[in-house]
Amino acid sequence: MLDTKTTTAPVLILLGPPGAGKGTQARMLEDRFGLVQLSTGDLLRAAVAAGTEAGKAAKAVMEAGDLVSDEIVIAILRDRLADADCASGVILDGFPRTTVQAEALDALLAESGQKINAAISLDVEDAAMVTRISGRYTCGGCGEGYHDMFKQPAVQGACDKCGGTEMKRRADDNAETVASRLEAYHAQTAPLIAYYDGKGALQRIDAMGDIDAIAGDLRAIVASATA
Ligand code: AP5
Repeated sequence: MLDTKTTTAPVLILLGPPGAGKGTQARMLEDRFGLVQLSTGDLLRAAVAAGTEAGKAAKAVMEAGDLVSDEIVIAILRDRLADADCASGVILDGFPRTTVQAEALDALLAESGQKINAAISLDVEDAAMVTRISGRYTCGGCGEGYHDMFKQPAVQGACDKCGGTEMKRRADDNAETVASRLEAYHAQTAPLIAYYDGKGALQRIDAMGDIDAIAGDLRAIVASATA
């Protein structure tokens, strides 16, 4: 059984299908607990925008809603984890997504004497994910996430956090790609729920409620897992 308590910097994992709210909740936990959100989706989109070799290899795969190769994603995550700001602890959002990635993470953390405090599964129904994803947009300035119906800025068109007015929608947020992304989740990522359960690290929460209620449940889990 994995020792999920650690005195080193906390490592939390958010599991859940596309649109479950991993990014939304990770950003709220960042502010509250002083942790750094590491989203492999964001890191890959940055690599695509920068035109790196990894980005060129990932672009078409992401647009099709498939998973980028373990090799590329593990390398990107390993590099980012080595950055100084991650020393205070991290929330992994969208990683690991395969058993190979989960095993690589275990090995990577073992190298630095770190352990996973909790792997938290956001449990949702597939049917609701299409609505969540198709209404999503983010601030181009700071990355804060919004939704046409569920989370609108206080002043229409202006970001609550940085005041920016350039809002963006993701290229893979369309009904066809969402179906592929959900398929990839069930085939390759959902088995990680059993993986972390077997290690005694799994926590599950019902993520069908409203954003603030889910945030409250998550805060309680994270406070206890990092105490
Ligand atoms: P990634 O960027 O990780 O996308 P994803 O997992 O598909 O997750 P999303 O960002 O779509 O959803 P989310 O759970 O963060 O939801 P959000 O909080 O935004 O990955 C993109 C692609 O990159 C993958 O398809 C793959 O190709 C590649 N990739 C990434 N990582 C990889 C890896 N490890 N291995 C291989 N390939 C990888 O919420 C969605 C919307 O709903 C928002 O508008 C939000 O405001 C709203 N919302 C949130 N919570 C609620 C709520 N409770 N009620 C109502 N609305 C809500």
